[in-house]
Amino acid sequence: MRWYAWSHLISPGTAAMNIVKRHVEIMNSYIDSPQQHMDAVKDPKMLGGPFVDYGYDRTDEVKELLADTLEKQSKMVQLVFAFRKLDKLLKSHPKGYSLEGLYDKVPSILKGYVELIYDLNNNLSFRIFEELLYNTEYYDKSFQSIALWITNNDSRPFSLSTPKLNDANLLHLNIPFDDKIIDELSKMKRVAGSPEDLANKLNLTERQNELFQTFFTEEAPVPYQKYTGDKVRMRYFGHACIFIETKDLTILIDPLISYYGYPTEVHHYSDFDLPDEIDYVLITHNHQDHVLLETLLPLRHRIKNIVVPRSGGGGLQDPKLKLMFNKIGFNNVIEIDEMETIKRSDCIITGMPFTGEHSDLDIKAKTCYHVKVEDFSLFFSADSRVMEPKLYENIHKIVGDVDVIFLGMECDGAPLTWLYGPLMFDEISRENDHSRKLSGCDHMKGMHLVNMFHPKEVYVYAMGQEPWCEFISSLKYTDESLPIIESNKLVEESQSRGLIAERLFGEKEILYSKRS
Ligand SMILES: [Fe+2]
Repeated sequence: MRWYAWSHLISPGTAAMNIVKRHVEIMNSYIDSPQQHMDAVKDPKMLGGPFVDYGYDRTDEVKELLADTLEKQSKMVQLVFAFRKLDKLLKSHPKGYSLEGLYDKVPSILKGYVELIYDLNNNLSFRIFEELLYNTEYYDKSFQSIALWITNNDSRPFSLSTPKLNDANLLHLNIPFDDKIIDELSKMKRVAGSPEDLANKLNLTERQNELFQTFFTEEAPVPYQKYTGDKVRMRYFGHACIFIETKDLTILIDPLISYYGYPTEVHHYSDFDLPDEIDYVLITHNHQDHVLLETLLPLRHRIKNIVVPRSGGGGLQDPKLKLMFNKIGFNNVIEIDEMETIKRSDCIITGMPFTGEHSDLDIKAKTCYHVKVEDFSLFFSADSRVMEPKLYENIHKIVGDVDVIFLGMECDGAPLTWLYGPLMFDEISRENDHSRKLSGCDHMKGMHLVNMFHPKEVYVYAMGQEPWCEFISSLKYTDESLPIIESNKLVEESQSRGLIAERLFGEKEILYSKRS
């Protein structure tokens, strides 16, 4: 429905809540006062806020989209009402008494799709049978579409809060994400094919086809250079995206691949630097800047295995990543649990506990990764935050020291409601909201990991600072920003101890000799 596609818009429960509490609210606000939005997007302090970014008043089109949304997605609105009704029902139930009698009163559209539960403190809640809910009209693939256009820069702030309205240079294809035609189209980045054939398969109108043909070139792309040495090659692609390659193995972590073909100030790797087949894609957690459908769908045909953290027990806030990927056409998804391993003769991938950065919500779809390539070990901690230092002592007992740590240090994260607000049933006070930020490690917490795992190298990453990541991270730091101050301290302290340490930016390549 013209909004930037991310995982919470796929799973029916989270999608419904986001439609009502994010999309409809943003559109209503824009219709009320487009000028307020036009002013807000010019203010750097508002980056990441719920604002529509168009240079001129597009109220009429937004009104149209809102009407279309309320009509086509009316079922999703009903689902939200049903969740709210269920929440009220649970709140009115005398605490501690059996829930069996309540099933009769569950809103009819949720009957058979939820289980009512207590936690051990007699707090009531419900869990969703998500697989069953996907199998209803609440998962409607006709809401999915692909927008294609030629870009000549990385700037697209407010993409998450700005619906993609019609534009003469934009081709909108109403195809669901699991359609194989996406693979066919994506393959043509590398392998020559016939745009005309593809246009026929896509049933494009003459006008659409005219634009479509401008997306193709007769020039062959720079061929990918496979690594053939006997070391472990690490390449940093920006944000949390790291590519590990040996002559026999390829692993891509949290894919976020930039576009290319236009001048950029910051040197970086892109699609050309990825192989035709990727053995493992590892996903650390279910945040927009770590699960990017716009990167993953075009890569789908090249991914042999995609590893995702195992999700929890059906909570609305913790949709299952495996299911989500299955539904959008990935048939090779492996769920990994805490301390569970995936073994190959030349590598062991271990899921490790990921704490923090999720506002203390009961969310399990998050994992750090310990990747051992032969006897060389790398620890990817993503945005996790050390909440209880003892945890890492316990982990260390199993995995031992590591050679390299990659650590996210976005230690001044967004408040709880920025991401999870649309899923909450009760009003959140400002104090609560700001006390439960989505923050990663600061200097002290980061040093705890260094002290525990004795790495030889420490890299701060996942800071969202590259120009092509800004649209999704909504972060622009200065030297005075806390994450910069704290990560500088960590880098300096690590260096003073003789470690190699750096805050990564743009691109980086390192070749590691396997110890043996
Ligand atoms: Fe995150």
